[in-house]
Amino acid sequence: MCAVHFRPPEPEPRTRPEIIMVGSGKGGVGKTCFSVNLSVEIARRGWRVVLLDADLSCSNVETLLGFQPHIRLDEFLRAHKATRLDGVLCQTPIENLKLIPGTTGLLDVAHPRYQRKVALIRALRKLDADVVLVDLDAGAHLNTLDFFRMEQTRGITVINPERTSIDNAFKFLRAALFRQIERFYHSPEVGLLLRRNHTLPDFLGCIQQSPAFSDDIRASVAAEIRQIAAAFQPQVVVNKCSTVHEANVAFNILSKYARQHLLIDPEFLGHIFFDQFVTESVNSGVPFIRSKPKMQISSCIVDMANRLGYF
Ligand SMILES: Nc1ncnc2c1ncn2[C@@H]1O[C@H](COP(=O)(O)OP(=O)(O)OP(=O)(O)O)[C@@H](O)[C@H]1O
Ligand SMILES: [Mg+2]
Repeated sequence: MCAVHFRPPEPEPRTRPEIIMVGSGKGGVGKTCFSVNLSVEIARRGWRVVLLDADLSCSNVETLLGFQPHIRLDEFLRAHKATRLDGVLCQTPIENLKLIPGTTGLLDVAHPRYQRKVALIRALRKLDADVVLVDLDAGAHLNTLDFFRMEQTRGITVINPERTSIDNAFKFLRAALFRQIERFYHSPEVGLLLRRNHTLPDFLGCIQQSPAFSDDIRASVAAEIRQIAAAFQPQVVVNKCSTVHEANVAFNILSKYARQHLLIDPEFLGHIFFDQFVTESVNSGVPFIRSKPKMQISSCIVDMANRLGYF
């Protein structure tokens, strides 16, 4: 196996559109509520936003936005030659906010061919928008992982302050990192070691001991892998918390595990309180940031839009 030299991405001026992936280890943690309300808030500030419902089997963004799309992502996934997403863009009832509605969930579009997935990822960059938010499926399926670790995108993980959600978030981040390393090397030896190890330090230890690699390859692979991990800086949103302290504790537990076992350093993006009103807002088809902009949960979204730099 020969090592490929990895250059960490150089700091660049923000390119348009900025692509933000929203994923999670566990289902039902609030990715869609967060993505929809954040999109609405950024659009309200005058930025041109596209929200992609990339939950390929159970899409429901349009329900939260209260409208019926006339077209779906199926059209793009089934059109073998399509390279642009303009044909599946829908204007939402909200100014500056367009939606690419999710799929019908039928088998062929819930599991698109690899080439169509790559075409979709490339097409996102051609969208005429300032920011593209991508609401992903829960869990560590390959479809989701390939989106989450797409180059030059921001990855946000939503968690709840409970053990299962934190554990699954750790596994999701690990799967995303390991998938990236696997795709970077395309090497059966590396793939095998990734499947046998639970942590990045254990994996690095096995590389050091493996007879499959020469000494120089071992040293350069270890350095490259540390750089890949250092370049992976996911942001974390703690949703459904009852206090800020509870959100901080949940983030700190995840962050400690990630630093120790994956050598990555997640960043805290913000928290959203648990609020019964969220259910009412979902059922009414009006995002809470719009119907109740002064509520505490709306302030949480406002803070995160600021932290992301969309003033
Ligand atoms: N801050 C909150 N307070 C109270 N309920 C919430 C909050 N955020 C989300 N919910 C509720 O949690 C449930 C799941 O939310 P949502 O659909 O956004 O999660 P999801 O992560 O997108 O789920 P899936 O993994 O199925 O895509 C919904 O019933 C929603 O109303
Ligand atoms: Mg969802």
